[in-house]
Amino acid sequence: MSTLERPALGVLADPATLPDPYPVLAALREASPFAEFNGKLIVAGRHADCSAVLRHPNASSERNQSLLAAGASRRVRDRPSFLSLDPPDHTRLRRLVSKAFTPRMIARLEPRIRAITGELLAAAADAGELELVSQLAYPLPVRIISEMLGVPIEDHPRFAGWSAGLAHSLQPGFGIDSDAVQSRAEAAQTASDEFAEYFRALIAVRRARPAQDLLSDLIRAEDNGEMLTENELIATCVLLLVAGHETTVGLISNAILALLRHPDQLALIRARPDLAADAVEETLRFDAPVQMTARVARGGMQVGSAQAPDGALVLLLLAATGRDPQVFPDPDVFDLRRGATGHLAFAAGPHFCLGAPLARLEATTAVRAFATRLTRPELDVDSLAYKPNFNLRGPARMVVRFAHLAGG
Ligand code: HEM
Repeated sequence: MSTLERPALGVLADPATLPDPYPVLAALREASPFAEFNGKLIVAGRHADCSAVLRHPNASSERNQSLLAAGASRRVRDRPSFLSLDPPDHTRLRRLVSKAFTPRMIARLEPRIRAITGELLAAAADAGELELVSQLAYPLPVRIISEMLGVPIEDHPRFAGWSAGLAHSLQPGFGIDSDAVQSRAEAAQTASDEFAEYFRALIAVRRARPAQDLLSDLIRAEDNGEMLTENELIATCVLLLVAGHETTVGLISNAILALLRHPDQLALIRARPDLAADAVEETLRFDAPVQMTARVARGGMQVGSAQAPDGALVLLLLAATGRDPQVFPDPDVFDLRRGATGHLAFAAGPHFCLGAPLARLEATTAVRAFATRLTRPELDVDSLAYKPNFNLRGPARMVVRFAHLAGG
């Protein structure tokens, strides 16, 4: 693809692109690496380039003053989570929560994840119809992360909107100071302030009466060794809660959508439920729930054939890397049997997604239950609509009709 044919980055933000950004991402990947905004932004879409940047010692995650954060308010920037920190703060804070997210700790949640999945499906049984996002893909991870953290589920209506507001601010502004970017900034600022106020009150309650939850564990860490300040504690809770709300929902919906579009593969899982995990892995490669992230090139760095000067922002098109033909043959074909490994849907290097074992378990449980318990499921094609978020991308709504719900 020649430079002339390269689409503008802004096309990714076009609502018409949302249902299928992959032709645009392919063209950007083939043209990459390339510079934009007088060299202040380097775009990377090839698997090898993105993988190298994610592991590069000069790649900083402290990108909050950058083009990517065009939508981020000052108060959001002043209260960064460890997602946006470099060592040593990143290492210290990540270590504190990582114990709760090891594959062994997460495996213990399996019965609970299965029980909630069963309850959610049972609630739709009589109707013979399921709005997959609001009735399964969203409530499952939300209930699990709320229980892990010790956030009362009845408070959920208060913070669901703040979570979506913060997730919106994770979309790159691409340097364009538009009204949309401005209003995202305002929504993120309000969300961040309200979240902080909410958690400050909840921390006071848990401090007085500790419980068996992650929040109480983190408070103990704060009280004991000054290992984290109250602002760090709040930022960590918000990060986990928002990550639990806004990402796995996309993985579950994207996986089930791909299977409904490939009934032969849905039938495969019905026959062999252990293949649900492979369907989840193939979905991460094929239709990544987090489409992009970024790093700041401190002291400059080489990005494939391009040189990123000191301070340049490197935009990493993670969703494009899953379709890179250099790594995945026939990349536009969804095939759970391909056994693809090495995708970058959870990033790589020091910021590799901490929630990956949890997201995989939740999505595998949901896909397995969907495939084995719903008979003759069919997508209502006209109901499919996408959320207006091109980074944390996924369906907002998809109705599935089915004949019968078999026992779990
Ligand atoms: C399918 C679901 C998910 C996807 C695709 C995903 C993707 C990602 C990606 C790409 C990153 C790296 C971002 C960067 O470094 O720029 C990340 C980091 C992170 N994710 Fe996830 N995530 C998912 C689910 C979750 C869940 C369920 C949790 C926890 C409840 C979680 C917690 C985190 C945390 C804490 C980080 C920051 C890690 C660090 O900075 O060291 N994620 N995730």
